[in-house]
Amino acid sequence: MTRYAHVTGWGSVLPEHVMTNKDLEQMVDTSDEWIVSRTGIRERRIASPDQSTASLAADAASQALKTAGVHPTEVDLIIVATSSPEHIFPATACIVQDMLGATKAGAFDLSAACTGFIFALNMAAQAIRTGSIDTALVIGAETLSRIVNWQDRNTCILFGDGAGAFVLQGSNEPGGVLEAVMHADGSGADVLMLPAGGSKIPTSPDTVAHGLHYVYMEGRPVFRFATRVMAEAAREVVEKAGLSLEDIQWIIPHQANIRILEVAARHLKLPMERFVVNLDRYGNTSTASIPIATTEAAAQGKLHPGDKVVLVGFGGGLTYGAALLEWTGPFPGHPEVNPERYRLWARVRSAGLRLRRKVLAAAGREQRLGG
Ligand code: ACO
Repeated sequence: MTRYAHVTGWGSVLPEHVMTNKDLEQMVDTSDEWIVSRTGIRERRIASPDQSTASLAADAASQALKTAGVHPTEVDLIIVATSSPEHIFPATACIVQDMLGATKAGAFDLSAACTGFIFALNMAAQAIRTGSIDTALVIGAETLSRIVNWQDRNTCILFGDGAGAFVLQGSNEPGGVLEAVMHADGSGADVLMLPAGGSKIPTSPDTVAHGLHYVYMEGRPVFRFATRVMAEAAREVVEKAGLSLEDIQWIIPHQANIRILEVAARHLKLPMERFVVNLDRYGNTSTASIPIATTEAAAQGKLHPGDKVVLVGFGGGLTYGAALLEWTGPFPGHPEVNPERYRLWARVRSAGLRLRRKVLAAAGREQRLGG
């Protein structure tokens, strides 16, 4: 029996604090006029000190589970695509698994910069299609404000914080994630990167003094790359599915720069009205931008069951890719669930497990001393 991976739930979270271009004018030598004309961005959201990539991810995931009517304990797999993980390891996805109380889920992070959500969606869909799993949470989550140099006008004007999530469920009904394409060009690894803090250049007083723990970007080559690959990947995924661009109702692109989207629309010969755009309000939220834009489009009633939707993105790596969805919506007759309330229990469970680990460690120590 052929299995299909349907998007049955979605959710997003944006921090409350709004940073406008005017605010940035007080921080670096820039202007609202420059930022709007070169990027289309007017404001972005900045996480509060008590928010983190994992907490935003878990909040978006809770919403997506609620929409789908899926209980956290039913989730088989959690993939968090992120460019600003909580740590190099453990995976942010494991922290999210614990926060949600998704007791049977495997969890890992996927690193493909801003294309990460598309790659993660494809991986989860493949696992569902093979019958290996039935239910997955795919999350894009970022606190880029923590790794951006707020004195570097080349980068700090672009990025924002936020998270978005999809629930994917298996079914024998055709639809869902129909096709995906994934590409990389590692020869461009050096034009968009976080230079230090990994194993090649470990953190040291010197790396910090030189600001190598901040996002580094050469804007022009990234811009040229993006304008070439956005249309290419969108066209490729549509052709791979045996469809044409006329069959597509919506393009939901990675929200990096309005000029990049305008070039892509021109290359695809599609009007901008077919693109979902919200970068003016949130800036570039990397892996989170596509699920955030999808959640907004769904809330605005733009997405209907049966609609064909192309998700397309590019990012550091360099990477690019696209996914073609047939929009489903929640499965009919799904139960009411309250993942938010369940998270209280998940906290108690997590505290209990930590306590047990401490007690066992103390008992082991005593035994060793006694022996
Ligand atoms: N305010 C005012 N002036 C600025 C600013 C600023 N914030 N930033 C740069 N400038 C200046 C530059 O110094 C330069 O001055 P110069 O001519 O005297 O040297 C001038 O403006 C033009 O700079 P460019 O870099 O050529 O400007 P460009 O039109 O290319 O726009 C931008 C820069 C917006 C960064 C653009 O190149 C871009 O969007 N690139 C793609 C970036 C992107 O999408 N990155 C995300 C990838 S996703 C991921 O993986 C995280």
